[in-house]
Amino acid sequence: MTHMHVAGSIHADATSPAPHWLRLPDDVNALTNQLWSMHAARNADGALEIAGRTAASIVDEVGSPVYVIDEDDFRTRARQWRDAFTGWDVYYAGKSFLCTAVARWIAEEGLGLDVCTGGELAVALRGGMDPKRIGLHGNNKSAGELRAALVAGVGRIIVDSAHEITRLEQLCAELGTVAEVMIRVTTGVEAHTHEYIATAHEDQKFGFSINGGAALVAMVRSQHSPFLHLRGIHSHIGSQIFDTNGFEVAARRTLKLFSQFREATGVELDDLDLGGGFGIAYTSVDTPSTPDELAAGLRAIVEHECRGFGLNTPRMSVEPGRAICGPAGTAIYTVGTVKPVDIAVGQSRRYISVDGGMSDNIRPALYAAEYSATLANREGRRGPVLSRVVGKHCEGGDILVRDEFLPDDVAPGDLIAIPAAGAYSRSMASNYNHVPRPPVVAVSHGRITTLLRRETLDDLLALDPGAQEMRTT
Ligand code: LLP
Repeated sequence: MTHMHVAGSIHADATSPAPHWLRLPDDVNALTNQLWSMHAARNADGALEIAGRTAASIVDEVGSPVYVIDEDDFRTRARQWRDAFTGWDVYYAGKSFLCTAVARWIAEEGLGLDVCTGGELAVALRGGMDPKRIGLHGNNKSAGELRAALVAGVGRIIVDSAHEITRLEQLCAELGTVAEVMIRVTTGVEAHTHEYIATAHEDQKFGFSINGGAALVAMVRSQHSPFLHLRGIHSHIGSQIFDTNGFEVAARRTLKLFSQFREATGVELDDLDLGGGFGIAYTSVDTPSTPDELAAGLRAIVEHECRGFGLNTPRMSVEPGRAICGPAGTAIYTVGTVKPVDIAVGQSRRYISVDGGMSDNIRPALYAAEYSATLANREGRRGPVLSRVVGKHCEGGDILVRDEFLPDDVAPGDLIAIPAAGAYSRSMASNYNHVPRPPVVAVSHGRITTLLRRETLDDLLALDPGAQEMRTT
């Protein structure tokens, strides 16, 4: 995942139409199991079905485009994380996708919830999440957000700067309360992921540096504050990470900090959170680990490091987001146009334009993220053609799936489904080009429930006072 060329993805690969990893499929209609939610399959007619509903029937009911969450898949993954990490706390990272129903599912499945703004906090509370099981993140939490968290009584506030410590102390003094805090540290780990989603190298905005000494200073200050109860430290090294090597380094450096803090204060801290960032499969070549494998790896690392430093094992926690909601979600779009484009002598690429795009999934444009796709309303009758699925926005980089083999007979009116689309797509959606944001529905045993309704043009115009004046004159 690197940006190849400032002119964008189209320019960069004009001489090599198919990336080396993309294999020509034997059967263009076959679904690669690891990419799809547990209850997605082709039915006897060859149409894609998710949890007992065909893609076409979902679109008939709620329109296109639409994000579909396989509810039982989501809940199963949440339980798998909870069970694999028994004895640890698992906080679902709400930034990946959150609405009140999801907050309720998370509460029902026994997980905690990580939020990083007052908005996410409000949704979590409205969804019935126990405030004690909520953690509040953010590198620039406003006084209002901190106040809301303190008033609600959230279980932990993950402190990110010296200014925030001061702000929290003032608020606690005013409210007559003590804040439960963890210190967010940067471990200096260079996670092997896209630069914009790596968060623990030194030159970025999050946390207190361990290397530079700022972390220890913030910990000692918090420990001595009458307004703060320091529970421990928090590290998050980045996202879409496939191996445990980065976590191993992070665990070693954070536990070393635990032992330095003990030397400085005589106090052994209770809590260590290793963050989220566990990768999922977006294409047939991605090979994520299971929660059981990750749990076994992380437990071994933490126990080994604690022994090395002579520490009791702290209360541990992790914060997966994408790994729970990503594979549970499928985006469904309707094809509007199909266009072969000559890109070099004897080479052409087929552009399939659909009715959504970068406003509902910015990830390909922002991180050069790869996705996969299939023809969803029927099976293709002809063989595979290298295709690019693009959106309807006025921008060349408006790409949803850069490279995929789709049947030669894809035509306007067909449905295209993109798997592994549940995380950081609808949650990062915008109204670019005044395109209303698509709905999110949950499907379970053939039943559709709206989680977020489709935005309408009236919703967009309601934000524009000028539009209201025009209406009344
Ligand atoms: N904990 C903290 C403190 C985080 O900052 C994040 C993600 C997570 C947990 C959850 O990470 P996950 O398990 O979902 O990878 N928009 C980007 C990802 C940004 C993630 C920001 N923080 C993307 O679409 O890839």
